[in-house]
Order: sequence, then C-alpha cells, then structure tokens
Amino acid sequence: MNEQVVLVTGGAGYIGSHACVELLQSGYRVIVVDNLSNSKIESLSRVKQITGKTLQFYQADIRDKKALAEIFAKEPIATVMHFAGLKAVGESCEQPLNYYHNNVYGTLVLTEVMAEANVKQLVFSSSATVYGEPSCVQYVEDFPLGAVNPYGRSKAMIEDILRDLSVADKHIQTKSPWKIALLRYFNPIGAHESGMIGEDPNGIPNNLMPYVSQVAIGKLEQLAVFGDDYPTRDGTGIRDYIHVVDLVKGHIKAIDALESEKFSLGGCKAYNLGAGRGCSVLEIISAFERVTGRKVNYRVAPRRAGDLAEFFANPELALKELNWKVEKNLDDMVADTWNWQSKNPQGYV
Ligand code: NAD
Ligand code: UD1
Repeated sequence: MNEQVVLVTGGAGYIGSHACVELLQSGYRVIVVDNLSNSKIESLSRVKQITGKTLQFYQADIRDKKALAEIFAKEPIATVMHFAGLKAVGESCEQPLNYYHNNVYGTLVLTEVMAEANVKQLVFSSSATVYGEPSCVQYVEDFPLGAVNPYGRSKAMIEDILRDLSVADKHIQTKSPWKIALLRYFNPIGAHESGMIGEDPNGIPNNLMPYVSQVAIGKLEQLAVFGDDYPTRDGTGIRDYIHVVDLVKGHIKAIDALESEKFSLGGCKAYNLGAGRGCSVLEIISAFERVTGRKVNYRVAPRRAGDLAEFFANPELALKELNWKVEKNLDDMVADTWNWQSKNPQGYV
C-alpha cells in the first residue's frame, strides 16, 4: 500500500471517476479538481461508496491559477493525473477557441503551477485521435501525428508542450526532471462492475456504445450504423474498444513506471492504451444483443464525415515498458455498460 497523494484533474468525469476508484483501492490518497462542466458531483459520492474511502474535492477550473496554486500549497501532491478537458469532436469544430482555451491553456496553467510547486510527475490523457490517418491500420507510437480536428489538435499540441518541457530539463540540467506519460487511449467503453459509475453523456450521445445502450433501454429509438460499405470484414467501421477499468489500470502502471529506474533521469513518453484488436459496429450490436438479451433497433445510414474504416492499437510498448495489457473482453465491456445503464437509466440524477 502506498500513501502517495495523486491530484486527479477531471476526476468527476467518466474516466477520471474510474481512476479515482482504482487509485483509492491501490492505497493512494486522492484529490480531485473538477469544474463540473461535464460531470456531476454524485459520481464522486459513488466512488466513495464503492471504495469505502474518502477523497478531497475542489470545485475549480484548471485555468484558475490562483485556485490551483492554493491546492498545491496545501496538499502534498506527488503525481498529477490530468483528465480535465473537453472531448467532443463535432463541438470542437464549432467552438475551436473554447477547445484550445480549455485544453491547451488549461494544461499550460496546470504545468506552470506544478513547476512552481516542484511537482513534476504527470500522467496525461491523450488520444489515438492524434495519429490522424496513417497508411497502416495498426498504430505504433512513433507514427507521424496528424490530427484532423480542433479536439485532436488540442491533444497533439499538449503532447508537444509536454515533450518540450521534458527536453528543456536537459538544457537546464535540473535535479528534478519532468516525468511524463502520454497515454493515447483508443475507444474506452464499459463501466465499473458495480454499475454505480459509468458514462453519462450530456444529451444525445455521439459515440457508439452509449448510443447502443440508450437504444436498448428505450431512451432512443434507433441506432444509425454509419456506413456498411467500408473495406472491412462486414463493411462497418472497426475500432479498438477498451474497458474503462483496464484503461485506468494502465494509469496506475504508468505511475509505477515513472517512479522506476527507467524514468530516473526524467522523460516524456507516449504509450498506446488499446487492446490491439478491433471490433466492427455490427459485432458490437450482436454482442450487445447476445449478452443483454435486448434487441438493438438499427438501420444503415450514410458514412459519418471524418470517420476512418479501421484502426486499432499496437499495444506492445505498454506491455514491455508499463507491464500492462487489457484483461477484459468485449462481453465484459457490454455486460458492464448494460449493468450501469439499466441501474441508472437517467445517468446520475
Ligand atoms: P469527461 O467529460 O467525462 O471528463 C472530463 C472532466 O473534466 C469532466 O468532469 C469535466 O467537468 C472536467 N473539466 C473539463 N474542463 C475542465 C476545466 N477547465 N477545469 C476543471 N475541470 C474540467 O471525459 P472523459 O471521457 O472522462 O475523458 C477524460 C479525458 O480523456 C479527456 O481529456 C478526454 O479528452 C480524454 N479522452 C477521452 C476519450 C473517451 O472516449 N472518453 C478518448 C480519448 C481521450
Ligand atoms: C470518436 C472520435 C474520436 C474520439 C473517440 C472517443 C470522431 C470522428 N472521432 O472516435 O476523436 O477519441 O470518439 O471519444 O468523432 N458509429 C455508428 N453510429 C453511431 C456512432 C458511431 O455507426 O451512432 C460508428 C462510427 O462510424 C465508428 C464506430 O461506430 O465506426 C465508433 O464510433 P465512436 O464511438 O464515435 O468512436 P470513433 O469514431 O472511433
């Protein structure tokens, strides 16, 4: 067990709340900073119920430097897990300034405060979106980056800023270098096995799994399958879905790695967090129907602009250097999504 204090930005959100559970269960002390712009405080009450442990919550915006500095002055923070950010691709195309301000400027303020407090261990939520459209479907970390929308570009810019911070350490020969893991998530789905926390999207979901589960529960009438004429095994899009609990376990492994010999001289390194295999939209629908016994009403619709036919992770680097790989399969992802959805048909009320 481990009494280290971890600051979780965006800890009330979908992935952050699961990370809080995993951290508390691994013995860490947890401090959450969240402005609740896309989450509800109820998620953190549920985290406490699941773990039987407490955590410290500050309702604050990461762009509020004074508020952040006060937290760092008060709390003995060792590591930051940085989830806070806006994440809807379509919205980012309509409101690019809002996305760059929140995600990029927010990270600048956070890292400035961290540097001033000499807290230099950071695990950052990046995304497979930074890759853009490489010629091969299985992504490796050193592929050239090429995000194609403001959300993706905000993640790529943050990666650049964090890499620059780490490179600067070499120039100034600091004794406390930055240790940074850039975790590139593929498609996180699922929920904690208790069904007490899960994804609670605002309005009509953009992503496949929450849409499917809201059709199955009767909240939405019909799923549109975006294209069945892709060059894939059944014509529908293929993605690398990863259980959110596997994903957050990868974050704990990342802290272990940052504290190991490997990062003793500091560094900033990207890791893919994915399963290394893809599922098609029709495979998701059929797994959902089989596991839950519910019919998923769907129709085939035209392709969605900006979608790729197929991509999935090469997760070998995370296995080699973080000693991490996924443990859960598609049936677990579907069963846990349904457990959350059926126990919380209106999300966090
Ligand atoms: P989420 O919206 O559920 O959680 C993000 C949290 O950050 C929310 O609680 C929100 O209130 C908070 N937040 C946003 N801006 C803030 C700010 N300026 N100050 C303080 N709090 C702020 O999203 P999520 O799905 O849990 O994603 C977490 C992170 O992972 C995000 O950075 C996202 O871009 C990244 N990511 C998510 C996915 C995915 O499919 N969910 C995929 C790749 C990367
Ligand atoms: C989307 C984002 C990506 C983000 C990821 C996780 C886009 C273009 N990409 O990825 O930046 O990191 O979510 O948040 O928005 N599908 C349907 N019907 C639906 C919804 C989706 O058929 O109603 C299909 C899509 O065409 C795709 C698959 O399901 O083939 C997965 O879609 P989605 O869950 O939105 O994830 P991505 O498009 O991979």
